[in-house]
Amino acid sequence: MRILKSSFAVVERRAEHTVKFFYSHLFWHHPGLRPLFPSSAEDMERQRDRLFAALTHVVSHLEDDSLLPYLQDLGRDHRKYLAAPEHYAAVGASLLAALAATSGDAWTPDVEKAWAEAYRVMADAMAAGAAASQDPPWWDAEVVRHLRYGEDIGVLTLAPHAPLPYRPGQYVSVSSERVPTTWRTYSLANAPRPDHTVDLHVSRIEGGRLSTALVREIQLGEALRLGAPGGRLTLRRTDRPVTFIAAGTGWAPVRAMLEELADHPPDQDVRLFLAARDAAHLYDRPWIDAYAAAFRWLGVTYITPAPGQHRDQATARLATALGNRALWPEQDVYLSGPPVFMEETALLLEELGARPDRLFHDAVPVPAAARGGRPLGFGEWFLHRPAAHWHNPADRSPRT
Ligand SMILES: Cc1cc2nc3c(=O)[nH]c(=O)nc-3n(C[C@H](O)[C@H](O)[C@H](O)COP(=O)(O)OP(=O)(O)OC[C@H]3O[C@@H](n4cnc5c(N)ncnc54)[C@H](O)[C@@H]3O)c2cc1C
Ligand code: HEM
Repeated sequence: MRILKSSFAVVERRAEHTVKFFYSHLFWHHPGLRPLFPSSAEDMERQRDRLFAALTHVVSHLEDDSLLPYLQDLGRDHRKYLAAPEHYAAVGASLLAALAATSGDAWTPDVEKAWAEAYRVMADAMAAGAAASQDPPWWDAEVVRHLRYGEDIGVLTLAPHAPLPYRPGQYVSVSSERVPTTWRTYSLANAPRPDHTVDLHVSRIEGGRLSTALVREIQLGEALRLGAPGGRLTLRRTDRPVTFIAAGTGWAPVRAMLEELADHPPDQDVRLFLAARDAAHLYDRPWIDAYAAAFRWLGVTYITPAPGQHRDQATARLATALGNRALWPEQDVYLSGPPVFMEETALLLEELGARPDRLFHDAVPVPAAARGGRPLGFGEWFLHRPAAHWHNPADRSPRT
Protein backbone atom coordinates (compact mmCIF):
# COMPACT_ATOMS: atom_id res chain seq x y z
CA MET A 1 0.00 0.00 0.00
CA ARG A 2 3.08 2.26 0.02
CA ILE A 3 2.42 2.93 -3.64
CA LEU A 4 -0.95 4.48 -2.76
CA LYS A 5 0.46 6.71 -0.05
CA SER A 6 3.23 8.11 -2.22
CA SER A 7 0.80 8.61 -5.10
CA PHE A 8 -1.58 10.42 -2.77
CA ALA A 9 1.26 12.71 -1.65
CA VAL A 10 1.66 13.81 -5.28
CA VAL A 11 -2.07 14.45 -5.70
CA GLU A 12 -2.36 16.26 -2.35
CA ARG A 13 -0.04 18.99 -3.57
CA ARG A 14 -2.47 19.69 -6.41
CA ALA A 15 -5.60 19.03 -4.42
CA GLU A 16 -7.62 21.98 -5.64
CA HIS A 17 -7.07 21.06 -9.25
CA THR A 18 -7.81 17.38 -8.63
CA VAL A 19 -11.10 18.06 -6.90
CA LYS A 20 -12.26 20.56 -9.52
CA PHE A 21 -11.45 18.02 -12.20
CA PHE A 22 -13.29 15.31 -10.27
CA TYR A 23 -16.56 17.25 -9.99
CA SER A 24 -16.43 18.58 -13.56
CA HIS A 25 -15.87 15.05 -14.83
CA LEU A 26 -18.61 13.60 -12.65
CA PHE A 27 -21.26 16.18 -13.55
CA TRP A 28 -20.32 16.22 -17.25
CA HIS A 29 -20.64 12.44 -17.61
CA HIS A 30 -23.52 12.05 -15.16
CA PRO A 31 -25.54 15.28 -15.15
CA GLY A 32 -28.26 13.41 -13.28
CA LEU A 33 -26.01 13.38 -10.19
CA ARG A 34 -25.70 17.18 -9.99
CA PRO A 35 -29.01 17.72 -8.11
CA LEU A 36 -27.85 15.39 -5.34
CA PHE A 37 -25.07 17.81 -4.40
CA PRO A 38 -25.50 21.28 -2.86
CA SER A 39 -26.07 24.04 -5.38
CA SER A 40 -24.20 26.74 -3.47
CA ALA A 41 -20.55 27.28 -4.38
CA GLU A 42 -19.64 27.58 -0.71
CA ASP A 43 -21.05 24.16 0.11
CA MET A 44 -19.30 22.60 -2.86
CA GLU A 45 -16.07 24.13 -1.57
CA ARG A 46 -16.73 22.49 1.79
CA GLN A 47 -17.56 19.23 0.06
CA ARG A 48 -14.16 19.29 -1.62
CA ASP A 49 -12.47 19.42 1.75
CA ARG A 50 -14.61 16.55 2.94
CA LEU A 51 -13.87 14.37 -0.03
CA PHE A 52 -10.16 14.88 0.45
CA ALA A 53 -10.43 14.47 4.19
CA ALA A 54 -12.12 11.12 3.55
CA LEU A 55 -9.54 10.04 1.00
CA THR A 56 -6.66 11.10 3.24
CA HIS A 57 -8.20 9.23 6.08
CA VAL A 58 -8.73 6.09 4.06
CA VAL A 59 -5.28 6.10 2.50
CA SER A 60 -3.62 6.55 5.88
CA HIS A 61 -5.74 3.93 7.65
CA LEU A 62 -5.69 1.17 5.10
CA GLU A 63 -4.25 -1.33 7.56
CA ASP A 64 -6.44 -0.14 10.41
CA ASP A 65 -9.27 -2.31 11.77
CA SER A 66 -11.40 0.77 12.39
CA LEU A 67 -11.63 1.52 8.66
CA LEU A 68 -14.23 -1.06 7.72
CA PRO A 69 -16.83 -0.03 10.34
CA TYR A 70 -16.19 3.63 9.49
CA LEU A 71 -16.90 3.00 5.81
CA GLN A 72 -19.94 0.89 6.57
CA ASP A 73 -21.41 3.71 8.67
CA LEU A 74 -20.51 6.23 5.97
CA GLY A 75 -22.38 4.10 3.42
CA ARG A 76 -25.38 3.75 5.71
CA ASP A 77 -25.38 7.52 6.20
CA HIS A 78 -24.97 8.22 2.46
CA ARG A 79 -28.48 6.91 1.84
CA LYS A 80 -29.79 10.24 3.09
CA TYR A 81 -27.98 11.92 0.15
CA LEU A 82 -29.88 9.53 -2.17
CA ALA A 83 -26.58 7.85 -3.12
CA ALA A 84 -27.63 4.60 -4.82
CA PRO A 85 -25.45 1.50 -5.46
CA GLU A 86 -25.06 2.34 -9.18
CA HIS A 87 -23.60 5.76 -8.36
CA TYR A 88 -20.48 4.27 -6.83
CA ALA A 89 -19.07 3.21 -10.22
CA ALA A 90 -19.63 6.72 -11.62
CA VAL A 91 -17.88 8.35 -8.67
CA GLY A 92 -15.03 5.82 -8.90
CA ALA A 93 -14.49 6.46 -12.62
CA SER A 94 -14.34 10.24 -12.08
CA LEU A 95 -12.02 9.86 -9.12
CA LEU A 96 -9.57 7.76 -11.15
CA ALA A 97 -9.79 10.18 -14.08
CA ALA A 98 -9.04 13.12 -11.76
CA LEU A 99 -6.14 11.33 -10.08
CA ALA A 100 -4.70 10.39 -13.48
CA ALA A 101 -5.05 13.95 -14.77
CA THR A 102 -3.21 15.47 -11.81
CA SER A 103 -0.55 12.82 -11.28
CA GLY A 104 1.25 13.35 -14.60
CA ASP A 105 4.12 10.90 -15.08
CA ALA A 106 3.53 9.44 -11.64
CA TRP A 107 0.34 7.76 -12.98
CA THR A 108 1.71 4.32 -13.89
CA PRO A 109 -0.33 1.15 -14.51
CA ASP A 110 0.66 -0.07 -11.03
CA VAL A 111 -0.56 3.14 -9.42
CA GLU A 112 -3.81 2.97 -11.35
CA LYS A 113 -4.33 -0.62 -10.26
CA ALA A 114 -3.69 0.27 -6.61
CA TRP A 115 -6.21 3.15 -6.68
CA ALA A 116 -8.85 1.12 -8.50
CA GLU A 117 -8.50 -1.62 -5.90
CA ALA A 118 -8.61 0.85 -2.97
CA TYR A 119 -11.72 2.51 -4.36
CA ARG A 120 -13.37 -0.88 -4.87
CA VAL A 121 -12.70 -1.76 -1.22
CA MET A 122 -14.19 1.58 -0.08
CA ALA A 123 -17.22 1.41 -2.34
CA ASP A 124 -17.92 -2.24 -1.46
CA ALA A 125 -17.75 -1.48 2.26
CA MET A 126 -20.03 1.55 1.90
CA ALA A 127 -22.52 -0.34 -0.27
CA ALA A 128 -22.47 -3.25 2.21
CA GLY A 129 -23.10 -0.84 5.11
CA ALA A 130 -26.01 0.71 3.22
CA ALA A 131 -27.53 -2.66 2.29
CA ALA A 132 -27.17 -4.15 5.79
CA SER A 133 -28.61 -1.22 7.70
CA GLN A 134 -31.89 -1.78 9.50
CA ASP A 135 -32.30 1.97 9.89
CA PRO A 136 -34.34 4.03 7.45
CA PRO A 137 -32.23 6.24 5.11
CA TRP A 138 -33.48 9.17 7.21
CA TRP A 139 -36.21 9.89 9.73
CA ASP A 140 -38.99 12.28 8.72
CA ALA A 141 -39.81 14.41 11.72
CA GLU A 142 -42.69 16.85 12.10
CA VAL A 143 -42.19 20.17 13.88
CA VAL A 144 -44.72 20.00 16.74
CA ARG A 145 -43.49 22.97 18.79
CA HIS A 146 -41.40 26.01 18.03
CA LEU A 147 -40.21 28.44 20.69
CA ARG A 148 -38.33 31.60 19.85
CA TYR A 149 -35.97 33.29 22.29
CA GLY A 150 -35.21 36.72 20.88
CA GLU A 151 -34.24 37.11 17.24
CA ASP A 152 -31.69 34.37 16.96
CA ILE A 153 -32.52 31.33 19.08
CA GLY A 154 -35.17 28.73 18.33
CA VAL A 155 -36.06 25.58 20.25
CA LEU A 156 -37.82 23.06 18.02
CA THR A 157 -39.62 19.96 19.21
CA LEU A 158 -39.81 17.27 16.54
CA ALA A 159 -41.90 14.11 16.34
CA PRO A 160 -39.99 11.54 14.23
CA HIS A 161 -42.10 9.09 12.21
CA ALA A 162 -40.23 6.21 13.86
CA PRO A 163 -38.25 6.21 17.13
CA LEU A 164 -34.77 7.64 16.71
CA PRO A 165 -32.19 5.49 18.56
CA TYR A 166 -29.62 7.73 20.23
CA ARG A 167 -27.72 8.42 23.42
CA PRO A 168 -27.96 11.75 25.28
CA GLY A 169 -25.19 14.05 24.03
CA GLN A 170 -25.34 12.86 20.41
CA TYR A 171 -26.25 14.91 17.36
CA VAL A 172 -28.11 14.32 14.08
CA SER A 173 -27.81 15.75 10.57
CA VAL A 174 -30.83 17.85 9.71
CA SER A 175 -32.22 18.89 6.34
CA SER A 176 -35.23 20.99 5.33
CA GLU A 177 -36.90 21.37 1.96
CA ARG A 178 -36.50 25.11 2.49
CA VAL A 179 -32.75 24.64 1.84
CA PRO A 180 -32.55 21.58 -0.45
CA THR A 181 -29.55 19.17 -0.33
CA THR A 182 -28.14 21.00 2.68
CA TRP A 183 -27.42 18.94 5.76
CA ARG A 184 -26.19 20.43 9.05
CA THR A 185 -25.59 18.85 12.42
CA TYR A 186 -27.59 19.76 15.55
CA SER A 187 -27.38 18.23 19.00
CA LEU A 188 -30.37 16.42 20.45
CA ALA A 189 -31.26 18.42 23.54
CA ASN A 190 -33.13 15.82 25.58
CA ALA A 191 -32.75 12.29 26.88
CA PRO A 192 -35.07 9.84 25.03
CA ARG A 193 -38.74 10.42 25.97
CA PRO A 194 -41.64 7.98 26.05
CA ASP A 195 -43.31 9.87 23.16
CA HIS A 196 -40.01 9.80 21.15
CA THR A 197 -40.04 13.55 20.51
CA VAL A 198 -36.68 15.31 20.34
CA ASP A 199 -35.66 18.94 20.86
CA LEU A 200 -33.14 20.94 18.85
CA HIS A 201 -31.70 24.24 20.08
CA VAL A 202 -30.77 26.32 17.07
CA SER A 203 -28.72 29.48 17.17
CA ARG A 204 -29.00 31.55 14.00
CA ILE A 205 -25.69 32.31 12.30
CA GLU A 206 -25.67 35.62 10.38
CA GLY A 207 -26.10 34.60 6.73
CA GLY A 208 -26.50 30.97 7.75
CA ARG A 209 -28.93 29.15 5.48
CA LEU A 210 -30.33 26.31 7.53
CA SER A 211 -30.10 27.98 10.94
CA THR A 212 -32.02 31.01 9.62
CA ALA A 213 -34.73 28.76 8.16
CA LEU A 214 -35.01 26.79 11.41
CA VAL A 215 -35.13 29.80 13.72
CA ARG A 216 -37.16 32.29 11.65
CA GLU A 217 -39.10 30.54 8.89
CA ILE A 218 -40.10 27.01 9.77
CA GLN A 219 -43.80 26.44 10.52
CA LEU A 220 -45.56 23.97 12.80
CA GLY A 221 -46.48 20.79 10.91
CA GLU A 222 -43.53 21.07 8.52
CA ALA A 223 -41.30 18.02 8.08
CA LEU A 224 -37.54 17.90 8.54
CA ARG A 225 -35.26 15.00 7.67
CA LEU A 226 -32.94 13.62 10.33
CA GLY A 227 -29.89 11.46 9.61
CA ALA A 228 -28.62 8.68 11.87
CA PRO A 229 -27.41 10.00 15.25
CA GLY A 230 -23.66 10.17 15.85
CA GLY A 231 -20.96 11.71 18.01
CA ARG A 232 -19.00 10.75 21.08
CA LEU A 233 -20.08 13.43 23.55
CA THR A 234 -21.91 10.89 25.67
CA LEU A 235 -21.70 10.28 29.42
CA ARG A 236 -18.99 8.00 30.71
CA ARG A 237 -20.32 6.74 34.04
CA THR A 238 -17.22 6.90 36.26
CA ASP A 239 -16.89 7.80 39.93
CA ARG A 240 -14.90 10.96 39.09
CA PRO A 241 -16.38 14.46 39.56
CA VAL A 242 -17.96 15.80 36.38
CA THR A 243 -17.65 19.27 34.86
CA PHE A 244 -19.76 20.43 31.93
CA ILE A 245 -18.58 23.55 30.10
CA ALA A 246 -20.91 24.90 27.44
CA ALA A 247 -21.50 28.08 25.49
CA GLY A 248 -24.53 29.20 23.51
CA THR A 249 -26.54 26.32 22.06
CA GLY A 250 -23.61 24.07 23.05
CA TRP A 251 -25.86 23.80 26.10
CA ALA A 252 -28.20 21.46 24.16
CA PRO A 253 -26.25 18.16 24.49
CA VAL A 254 -25.40 19.02 28.12
CA ARG A 255 -29.09 19.34 28.90
CA ALA A 256 -29.65 15.87 27.43
CA MET A 257 -26.85 14.44 29.58
CA LEU A 258 -28.18 16.17 32.72
CA GLU A 259 -31.57 14.60 32.07
CA GLU A 260 -29.83 11.24 31.88
CA LEU A 261 -28.04 11.95 35.18
CA ALA A 262 -31.30 12.97 36.82
CA ASP A 263 -32.76 9.55 35.95
CA HIS A 264 -29.74 7.79 37.49
CA PRO A 265 -28.43 10.31 40.03
CA PRO A 266 -24.66 10.36 40.44
CA ASP A 267 -22.84 10.00 43.77
CA GLN A 268 -20.28 12.60 42.81
CA ASP A 269 -20.41 16.34 42.41
CA VAL A 270 -21.44 17.74 38.99
CA ARG A 271 -20.71 21.35 38.00
CA LEU A 272 -22.00 23.24 35.00
CA PHE A 273 -20.30 26.33 33.59
CA LEU A 274 -22.58 27.94 31.05
CA ALA A 275 -21.32 30.91 29.02
CA ALA A 276 -23.52 33.19 26.91
CA ARG A 277 -22.94 36.43 25.06
CA ASP A 278 -25.43 38.20 27.36
CA ALA A 279 -28.07 37.38 29.95
CA ALA A 280 -30.80 37.28 27.27
CA HIS A 281 -28.96 34.40 25.60
CA LEU A 282 -29.22 32.27 28.75
CA TYR A 283 -32.51 31.14 27.24
CA ASP A 284 -32.87 27.96 29.32
CA ARG A 285 -32.02 29.53 32.67
CA PRO A 286 -35.40 28.86 34.38
CA TRP A 287 -35.09 25.14 33.58
CA ILE A 288 -31.47 25.04 34.79
CA ASP A 289 -32.28 26.89 38.01
CA ALA A 290 -35.14 24.48 38.70
CA TYR A 291 -32.81 21.51 38.13
CA ALA A 292 -30.10 22.98 40.36
CA ALA A 293 -32.70 23.52 43.10
CA ALA A 294 -34.09 19.97 42.74
CA PHE A 295 -30.77 18.07 42.58
CA ARG A 296 -28.15 18.64 45.25
CA TRP A 297 -25.41 17.05 43.18
CA LEU A 298 -25.64 19.88 40.59
CA GLY A 299 -23.90 23.27 40.91
CA VAL A 300 -24.18 25.95 38.24
CA THR A 301 -22.01 28.94 37.32
CA TYR A 302 -23.34 31.30 34.64
CA ILE A 303 -20.79 33.33 32.71
CA THR A 304 -21.85 36.47 30.83
CA PRO A 305 -20.05 39.76 30.24
CA ALA A 306 -21.17 42.67 32.40
CA PRO A 307 -23.94 44.68 30.66
CA GLY A 308 -22.48 46.78 27.87
CA GLN A 309 -19.18 44.90 27.89
CA HIS A 310 -17.70 42.99 24.96
CA ARG A 311 -18.13 39.23 24.91
CA ASP A 312 -14.34 38.83 25.36
CA GLN A 313 -15.04 39.73 28.94
CA ALA A 314 -17.08 36.53 29.23
CA THR A 315 -14.04 34.59 28.07
CA ALA A 316 -11.92 36.25 30.75
CA ARG A 317 -14.59 35.53 33.35
CA LEU A 318 -14.78 31.91 32.28
CA ALA A 319 -11.00 31.58 32.60
CA THR A 320 -11.18 32.96 36.17
CA ALA A 321 -14.08 30.70 37.11
CA LEU A 322 -12.38 27.61 35.71
CA GLY A 323 -9.13 28.59 37.43
CA ASN A 324 -10.99 28.61 40.76
CA ARG A 325 -12.20 25.04 40.38
CA ALA A 326 -9.65 22.69 41.88
CA LEU A 327 -8.36 19.27 40.90
CA TRP A 328 -8.79 19.33 37.13
CA PRO A 329 -6.73 16.15 36.60
CA GLU A 330 -9.29 14.23 38.68
CA GLN A 331 -12.31 15.22 36.62
CA ASP A 332 -14.26 14.12 33.60
CA VAL A 333 -14.83 17.26 31.54
CA TYR A 334 -17.43 17.64 28.80
CA LEU A 335 -17.04 20.57 26.45
CA SER A 336 -19.57 21.88 23.94
CA GLY A 337 -20.09 25.12 22.04
CA PRO A 338 -19.01 27.10 18.98
CA PRO A 339 -15.75 25.92 17.42
CA VAL A 340 -13.56 28.82 18.54
CA PHE A 341 -14.89 28.60 22.10
CA MET A 342 -14.07 24.89 22.19
CA GLU A 343 -10.60 25.41 20.81
CA GLU A 344 -9.74 28.14 23.33
CA THR A 345 -11.30 26.40 26.31
CA ALA A 346 -9.58 23.11 25.52
CA LEU A 347 -6.21 24.94 25.55
CA LEU A 348 -7.07 26.62 28.84
CA LEU A 349 -8.09 23.30 30.40
CA GLU A 350 -4.84 21.75 29.28
CA GLU A 351 -2.97 24.56 31.09
CA LEU A 352 -5.08 23.96 34.20
CA GLY A 353 -4.04 20.31 34.19
CA ALA A 354 -7.18 18.59 32.86
CA ARG A 355 -6.24 15.23 31.36
CA PRO A 356 -6.79 14.94 27.60
CA ASP A 357 -8.15 11.41 28.02
CA ARG A 358 -10.80 12.75 30.40
CA LEU A 359 -11.81 15.65 28.18
CA PHE A 360 -14.78 14.80 25.95
CA HIS A 361 -16.10 16.77 22.99
CA ASP A 362 -16.97 16.40 19.36
CA ALA A 363 -14.09 17.61 17.22
CA VAL A 364 -15.33 20.55 15.21
CA PRO A 365 -13.56 22.23 12.33
CA VAL A 366 -13.33 25.98 12.83
CA PRO A 367 -15.25 27.58 9.96
CA ALA A 368 -13.51 30.16 7.79
CA ALA A 369 -15.88 32.90 8.96
CA ALA A 370 -15.00 32.28 12.57
CA ARG A 371 -11.30 32.64 11.71
CA GLY A 372 -11.93 36.19 10.54
CA GLY A 373 -13.74 35.54 7.28
CA ARG A 374 -10.73 34.35 5.37
CA PRO A 375 -11.15 30.87 3.96
CA LEU A 376 -8.20 28.57 4.47
CA GLY A 377 -6.13 28.12 1.33
CA PHE A 378 -5.51 24.58 0.25
CA GLY A 379 -1.85 24.72 1.29
CA GLU A 380 -2.82 25.93 4.74
CA TRP A 381 -5.61 23.44 4.94
CA PHE A 382 -3.27 20.55 4.38
CA LEU A 383 -0.67 21.94 6.78
CA HIS A 384 -3.22 22.45 9.57
CA ARG A 385 -5.68 19.81 8.59
CA PRO A 386 -8.68 20.15 10.90
CA ALA A 387 -9.58 17.17 13.03
CA ALA A 388 -12.84 16.75 11.17
CA HIS A 389 -15.40 14.70 13.04
CA TRP A 390 -16.68 13.14 9.82
CA HIS A 391 -13.49 11.27 9.12
CA ASN A 392 -12.64 10.27 12.63
CA PRO A 393 -13.61 6.64 13.17
CA ALA A 394 -13.57 7.20 16.93
CA ASP A 395 -16.75 9.20 16.30
CA ARG A 396 -18.72 6.19 15.16
CA SER A 397 -21.96 6.56 16.95
CA PRO A 398 -22.29 4.40 20.04
CA ARG A 399 -25.88 3.31 19.47
CA THR A 400 -28.29 2.41 22.20
C1 LIG B 1 -21.21 18.30 16.09
C2 LIG B 1 -21.96 19.59 15.85
C3 LIG B 1 -23.08 19.90 16.60
C4 LIG B 1 -23.75 21.10 16.40
N1 LIG B 1 -24.83 21.38 17.18
C5 LIG B 1 -25.48 22.55 17.01
C6 LIG B 1 -26.60 22.88 17.85
O1 LIG B 1 -27.04 22.10 18.71
N2 LIG B 1 -27.20 24.08 17.66
C7 LIG B 1 -26.75 24.97 16.69
O2 LIG B 1 -27.36 26.05 16.58
N3 LIG B 1 -25.71 24.66 15.89
C8 LIG B 1 -25.08 23.48 16.01
N4 LIG B 1 -24.01 23.17 15.19
C9 LIG B 1 -23.68 24.10 14.08
C10 LIG B 1 -24.58 23.76 12.86
O3 LIG B 1 -24.27 22.45 12.38
C11 LIG B 1 -24.39 24.69 11.66
O4 LIG B 1 -23.03 24.78 11.35
C12 LIG B 1 -24.92 26.09 11.92
O5 LIG B 1 -26.30 26.04 12.26
C13 LIG B 1 -24.74 26.96 10.64
O6 LIG B 1 -25.42 26.36 9.55
P1 LIG B 1 -26.11 27.29 8.44
O7 LIG B 1 -26.57 26.43 7.31
O8 LIG B 1 -27.09 28.18 9.07
O9 LIG B 1 -24.90 28.21 7.98
P2 LIG B 1 -24.00 28.12 6.61
O10 LIG B 1 -24.92 28.57 5.53
O11 LIG B 1 -23.44 26.76 6.58
O12 LIG B 1 -22.90 29.14 6.95
C14 LIG B 1 -22.98 30.54 6.71
C15 LIG B 1 -21.66 31.18 7.10
O13 LIG B 1 -21.44 31.08 8.51
C16 LIG B 1 -20.22 30.39 8.80
N5 LIG B 1 -20.45 29.51 9.97
C17 LIG B 1 -21.05 28.29 9.96
N6 LIG B 1 -21.12 27.81 11.23
C18 LIG B 1 -20.55 28.75 12.03
C19 LIG B 1 -20.32 28.84 13.41
N7 LIG B 1 -20.68 27.86 14.27
N8 LIG B 1 -19.70 29.97 13.91
C20 LIG B 1 -19.35 30.97 13.07
N9 LIG B 1 -19.54 30.94 11.73
C21 LIG B 1 -20.13 29.87 11.22
C22 LIG B 1 -19.91 29.58 7.54
O14 LIG B 1 -18.50 29.35 7.39
C23 LIG B 1 -20.46 30.47 6.45
O15 LIG B 1 -19.53 31.46 6.09
C24 LIG B 1 -23.31 22.00 15.40
C25 LIG B 1 -22.21 21.67 14.61
C26 LIG B 1 -21.52 20.51 14.84
C27 LIG B 1 -20.33 20.17 13.97
C1 HEM C 1 -16.09 5.53 -1.72
C2 HEM C 1 -16.92 6.46 -2.09
C3 HEM C 1 -17.29 7.71 -1.28
C4 HEM C 1 -16.66 8.30 -0.21
C5 HEM C 1 -15.38 7.88 0.51
C6 HEM C 1 -17.47 9.46 0.16
C7 HEM C 1 -17.20 10.31 1.23
C8 HEM C 1 -17.99 11.38 1.61
C9 HEM C 1 -17.79 12.17 2.79
C10 HEM C 1 -16.70 11.94 3.83
C11 HEM C 1 -18.73 13.15 2.82
C12 HEM C 1 -18.88 14.26 3.89
C13 HEM C 1 -20.14 14.25 4.65
C14 HEM C 1 -20.49 12.93 5.34
O1 HEM C 1 -19.66 12.36 6.06
O2 HEM C 1 -21.64 12.47 5.15
C15 HEM C 1 -19.58 12.95 1.66
C16 HEM C 1 -20.67 13.71 1.36
C17 HEM C 1 -21.48 13.48 0.25
N1 HEM C 1 -21.39 12.44 -0.64
FE1 HEM C 1 -19.98 11.00 -0.66
N2 HEM C 1 -18.56 9.53 -0.68
C18 HEM C 1 -18.48 8.49 -1.58
C19 HEM C 1 -19.37 8.19 -2.58
C20 HEM C 1 -20.47 8.94 -2.89
C21 HEM C 1 -21.42 8.61 -3.92
C22 HEM C 1 -21.37 7.37 -4.82
C23 HEM C 1 -22.36 9.60 -3.92
C24 HEM C 1 -23.58 9.66 -4.81
C25 HEM C 1 -23.70 10.41 -5.78
C26 HEM C 1 -21.98 10.57 -2.89
C27 HEM C 1 -22.69 11.72 -2.58
C28 HEM C 1 -22.41 12.57 -1.55
C29 HEM C 1 -23.19 13.77 -1.23
C30 HEM C 1 -24.41 14.29 -2.00
C31 HEM C 1 -22.61 14.35 -0.11
C32 HEM C 1 -23.07 15.62 0.63
C33 HEM C 1 -22.43 16.84 0.12
C34 HEM C 1 -22.62 18.03 1.04
O3 HEM C 1 -23.45 18.02 1.96
O4 HEM C 1 -21.90 19.02 0.83
N3 HEM C 1 -20.85 10.13 -2.29
N4 HEM C 1 -19.09 11.87 0.94
